[in-house]
Amino acid sequence: MSQISSTRTIPVTGRIPRHVAIIMDGNGRWATQRKLPRTAGHVRGVQAVRRAVEACGHRGVEYLTLFAFSSENWRRPAQEVSLLMRLFVRTLEREVDKLVAQGVRLRIVGDLGAFDAKLRRLIDEAEQRTEQQSTLTLTIAANYGGRWDILQAMQALLKAHPEMAEHPEQLDEDALNPWLAMAYAPEPDLFIRTGGEQRISNFLIWQLAYTELYFTDCYWPDFGAAQIDQAFAWYADRERRFGRTSEQLRTPT
Ligand code: FPP
Repeated sequence: MSQISSTRTIPVTGRIPRHVAIIMDGNGRWATQRKLPRTAGHVRGVQAVRRAVEACGHRGVEYLTLFAFSSENWRRPAQEVSLLMRLFVRTLEREVDKLVAQGVRLRIVGDLGAFDAKLRRLIDEAEQRTEQQSTLTLTIAANYGGRWDILQAMQALLKAHPEMAEHPEQLDEDALNPWLAMAYAPEPDLFIRTGGEQRISNFLIWQLAYTELYFTDCYWPDFGAAQIDQAFAWYADRERRFGRTSEQLRTPT
């Protein structure tokens, strides 16, 4: 299990983040600014996804997690939701060969039961076809919510270990972590949100406990290698203390 809890063990970190998690915001505003329908922004957003995967792979990032559709995005106009679903299907159909060629392992996390059978089948196939790849693990969070994740993990844990309900004092992070949707990944080192808003929006709320948070006004369709380099330069300047003092970092015991 590669998940080390940042509240229990201090992780070893480098200048390049091992795990980058991104909220890809601003597609709608990018399109509206150009008098295009909002959905045109999502279509352009797919190109930015490709750029991010490539740039992160080249820079040695091991895990890239993208928030594509939140549990709350069903509240959007039906036409936009349906376009987003078609985009996922089309992108999965078209991009899997390229992911394999790039050494990218694809994982989709979220409450996938809400998606139609065709999309679920494509997700299964894409995950299986890329399973052996090891350069970069690309996770797409779809119908994902951080609260959903914590609750589904609790439910799965209690189903597997009903005796724990009688001994709640046994419930600790080590017991819960393996049941979280992204148990295969370390906690994110760097969180990026494009589009100018400064909020977490129910993304990986458990896993972001000690993540560095970076916000940029750049709209997602304009995001590329240069913006990733800016974010990484900002990250490299952070002092990651995980609760310790600066003094302790300078003179480790
Ligand atoms: C947020 O922008 C973006 C989304 C809700 C969808 C993200 C989807 C993509 C980038 C394309 C598909 C991705 C994959 C992985 C196939 P917004 O619509 O909230 O923008 P706004 O805040 O300007 O309205």
